[in-house]
Amino acid sequence: MLKKKNKPDVRKFSKQELWSMIDHNNLPKHVAVIMDGNGRWARSRMLPRVAGHRVGMESALKIVEVASDLGLNVLTLYAFSAENWRRPADEVGALMKLLVEFLKRELISMKKNNICFQTIGRIAGLPDWVQQQIKWSIDQTCKNTGLILNVALNYGGQQEIVDAVKGIVRDVEHKRLDINELDEETFSGYLYTADLPDPDLLIRTSGEMRISNFLLWQLAYAEMLITPTLWPDFRKREFLQAILEYQQRERRFGTIGKLVQSK
Ligand code: IPE
Ligand code: IPE
Ligand code: MG
Repeated sequence: MLKKKNKPDVRKFSKQELWSMIDHNNLPKHVAVIMDGNGRWARSRMLPRVAGHRVGMESALKIVEVASDLGLNVLTLYAFSAENWRRPADEVGALMKLLVEFLKRELISMKKNNICFQTIGRIAGLPDWVQQQIKWSIDQTCKNTGLILNVALNYGGQQEIVDAVKGIVRDVEHKRLDINELDEETFSGYLYTADLPDPDLLIRTSGEMRISNFLLWQLAYAEMLITPTLWPDFRKREFLQAILEYQQRERRFGTIGKLVQSK
């Protein structure tokens, strides 16, 4: 392992100290978060899983706030995967209700803070009443020019790639695309995230070492930060820690990098 010099232990600092230690000219453009651990948080308190989701929603509201205050361009939150339908119907129903509640509460602050709401995933597969609220939030905020709050709903990375391939085949058939011109950049343009930069930083809470079908294509060179903290306990301070940790990483993109060169 290479030792990095002058690497401060970010766990020791307060929110204000972390804020001032962050290099505000070197922020990740896009942070993606797998918000995991609500169920375990609730179980450890002898509460129903839904209680964990409810407190988890408060974490989400706080993280949107700090991401917007920091001036990030994009924050993607993984809220409901294509595989989460496999959960008991009452939990799925509670998650849908909480999502609508989140959107209603978030709308006021999105308007105030110039946040633009977007989604990725197969939105048409969600219940109508959820789709209506999503559409309302998009309509009400789409002209905002600050943080893009991108929420992954009924989202699966494999499904997204399949949808992209269908779009490509359709365009080739209709002669809108020459197959010889298909490269990584063109392919990216067919993904749900066509207009977004790839994530620079992926955060997963609850210590699970997997990406659970999240942004399979887009995470190619993201820095990964997996924390044991359960999502309902993940608040602004730890988000700032994650940004600072990101700034201490050396991104190489396949080159040999400065640290290796100087050895
Ligand atoms: C994340 O928490 C929320 C969703 C996946 C919707 P979990 O509900 O997965 O919590 P654990 O992983 O069971 O603790
Ligand atoms: C990933 O968490 C999906 C979301 C956070 C929405 P899961 O809890 O569903 O992932 P697995 O099943 O543990 O991989
Ligand atoms: Mg989980």
